[in-house]
Amino acid sequence: MTTSTGAGAATPAGSVRALYDSMSYGPAPEGDAPVREWIRTSAPSGAFGHYIGGQWVQATEQFDVHEPATGKPLARVAQGSIADVNAAVAAARAALPAWQALDDHGRARWLYAIARGIQKHARHFAVLESLDNGKPIRETRDIDIPLVARHFYHHAGWAQLLSSEFPGTHAYGVVGQVIPWNFPLLMLAWKVAPALAAGNTVVLKPAEFTPLTALRFAELVHEIGLPPGVFNLVTGDGSTGAALVDHEGVDKIAFTGSTDVGRVIRKATAGSGKGLSLELGGKSPFIVFEDADLDSVVEGVVDAIWFNQGQVCCAGSRLLVQEGIADRLYDKLRDRMERLRVGAPLDKSIDMGAIVAPVQLDRIRSLCAQGVEEGATCWQPSWGVPAEGAFHPPTLFTNVAPSATIAQVEIFGPVLVSMTFRTPEEAVALANNTPFGLAASVWSENINLALDVAPKIKAGVVWINSTNLFDAAAGFGGYRESGFGREGGREGLWEYLKLERAHHGAPLPVIEGGDTDAEAESDMTASGALPTIDRTPKLFIGGKQARPDSGYTRTVRSLNGHAVGEVGDGNRKDIRNAVEAAHAASGWAKLTGHQRAQILYYIAENLSARSEEFAARIVAMTGDDRAAGDAEVAASISRLFTYAAWADKHDGAVHDVPLRGVALAMHEPIGVVGVACPDPYPLLGLVSLVAPLIATGNRVVAVPSARFPLAATDFYSVLETSDVPGGVVNLVTGDRDTLSRTLADHDDVDALWYFGSRAGATTVERASAANIKRTWTEWVGREWLDPRSGEGREFLRRAVQVKNIWIPYGE
Ligand code: NAI
Repeated sequence: MTTSTGAGAATPAGSVRALYDSMSYGPAPEGDAPVREWIRTSAPSGAFGHYIGGQWVQATEQFDVHEPATGKPLARVAQGSIADVNAAVAAARAALPAWQALDDHGRARWLYAIARGIQKHARHFAVLESLDNGKPIRETRDIDIPLVARHFYHHAGWAQLLSSEFPGTHAYGVVGQVIPWNFPLLMLAWKVAPALAAGNTVVLKPAEFTPLTALRFAELVHEIGLPPGVFNLVTGDGSTGAALVDHEGVDKIAFTGSTDVGRVIRKATAGSGKGLSLELGGKSPFIVFEDADLDSVVEGVVDAIWFNQGQVCCAGSRLLVQEGIADRLYDKLRDRMERLRVGAPLDKSIDMGAIVAPVQLDRIRSLCAQGVEEGATCWQPSWGVPAEGAFHPPTLFTNVAPSATIAQVEIFGPVLVSMTFRTPEEAVALANNTPFGLAASVWSENINLALDVAPKIKAGVVWINSTNLFDAAAGFGGYRESGFGREGGREGLWEYLKLERAHHGAPLPVIEGGDTDAEAESDMTASGALPTIDRTPKLFIGGKQARPDSGYTRTVRSLNGHAVGEVGDGNRKDIRNAVEAAHAASGWAKLTGHQRAQILYYIAENLSARSEEFAARIVAMTGDDRAAGDAEVAASISRLFTYAAWADKHDGAVHDVPLRGVALAMHEPIGVVGVACPDPYPLLGLVSLVAPLIATGNRVVAVPSARFPLAATDFYSVLETSDVPGGVVNLVTGDRDTLSRTLADHDDVDALWYFGSRAGATTVERASAANIKRTWTEWVGREWLDPRSGEGREFLRRAVQVKNIWIPYGE
């Protein structure tokens, strides 16, 4: 047999040249006998049970788990019922006091023991993961399992440092965790390590396709003697996950998986008071500028989209190439794709293994078919994939319209979709043309260009001249429909901690309307013979006072029922106008912290000049004594100083990641944030919520205290005289819950802070599921006058999102 060299001459088969050209290796299988034996002997009655309260519990219902590479059954596992979930949550609850009674060092020792155990059995875990998921042993052995160990080590460290680094916090309690099939053990580690380090106990539900490494992990924690109930495992499908999400005894839910299920979970937990973090899908851009090193780019693409068969939430699935180099890059890519090897996951020299399950393979195929139907050009290597098992070839689509289904939908397979751009601006616009915002790669030898583009991309992680880098020390997580919350690093640990104060709040007092009958004397007319000159405040939108669209006003009454003024009755249209104005004021985010601080100081100064007037207004509305009014104004001025002080100090971090380079954890404003203010403390409540947001570069649409809005409307004129650019703060008076609902529904509002009733919070959280908006809801009282609960890092942390930018350096 001979192979063609392309130059016309024939090369003898077996020669070095022929081998080099064909790149064909012999098989190099990793042995799987010990692992198959473990599967056989660990489920002696034929099926694995759940691990609950330190014991293996058999289930009445079971199902088979298949090996993706062959399609054959691999093991039989338990289908978790509601009763199983109840038992697991009860075990986690029972284990909580003793687990929390351990000191930092005690919990650190357990996490360290888990890390050591993982390392000791690393090969076993790697082989089991490859068998169960279909991913290459090269990846499980060199990436997944070492990262799992790294996560437990890193979090053993956080456990040790918890009291000193996170003073005044406590764990949520019982945490329910639901994870997907693409990185089964790694996702377990990302969830379990921080939860335990923070002092929570856990009930974990692995994905139905891939529960085996989680079962082996349960066995490991049992072997090392982790106290019963600290870690519980219930296997099963989505219905088991739903039972965990719905369980009243669970204090927090952490989920990784599809955006659709993320939405369902957001709705299911609305108004429950449960903590929630969601790590969802992505359609991440991989941007190549014409000065990039194309050979590195090609290897980057291999890692971006053919790593784990493309079943990666942050896969670089949209290749955006600068027009001038597109054809050259496509040629190089096709050449490289021709040489990729797809086959048995346990073969050490293959590049891509099997797709997790036939249903996922069908989904990938049907999306590819749709891509062709919609006019894109599909290219696949000349060789075929194994016929047995669930395999899909690496695939490249070119001539793709930005609106095409394959350019918008997460395919979750080895399918790369490419588009071209001309200018950096166009690249950014294309990159952000997606409802997702998980990750991005930027390739350019011009560091100025790369670092200019990185912050403009709406994504939680940006890799410069690199891709798919992960580490326990750097937070990972998304924007927009990719979810909220971070995993890893200091920012990830916050997801499993609560501040002490939040534990003791009583429900916000409902402030009744008072006597509003027509007989009630009006303070507006009662004092003198002449009517006062009408001064109905309008709304404050885009830096100008605006009439409410409805044309109606609301009467503001003091607690004893006297009419003390009127305000505009804002509606949906006013909110839309305010959101538009807030978006137009995006320049605010580009100011330096110092510049924003100057403006906050100026607001404080102007408020101070009118202290008496504001205090009197507060007293007229709330009926409090004058000293209370004075105290509220003084606290508001001090609060503005606090956030002026913070404006240039709430900086990010440089994470110490194992890379020749740095990961910059940058604090970015979230964008346009809706704020529904609490009724009490009409001025201080507003200032306490708006000031941290604008200090960090956000723009705000606020609904002032619905009961006592006049302090806020007086505040317009303070803003107007303090150089606050139009649109940075917009105030729409009216019914808090109706306007909050509109803000929650609005696609261009990036987050919503709601301080009102539980019913209102439920509505807001449920509505926010549509676009996976970040929400912060509270319906318990907060002592706003006390700086320990009314200001500080808690507010700042909620006002920003962390973007991790990885920058390798060196040759
Ligand atoms: P999925 O979101 O249905 O499953 C993830 C986990 O959620 C599994 O453990 C599942 O049992 C559980 N689950 C399902 N329904 C639930 C519910 N109502 N309540 C609580 N838990 C529930 O993902 P699936 O169906 O396996 O994959 C479908 C698509 O999702 C993929 O094609 C991919 O596009 C995306 N996906 C994204 C992942 C990511 O890492 N972002 C991971 C897995 C899938």
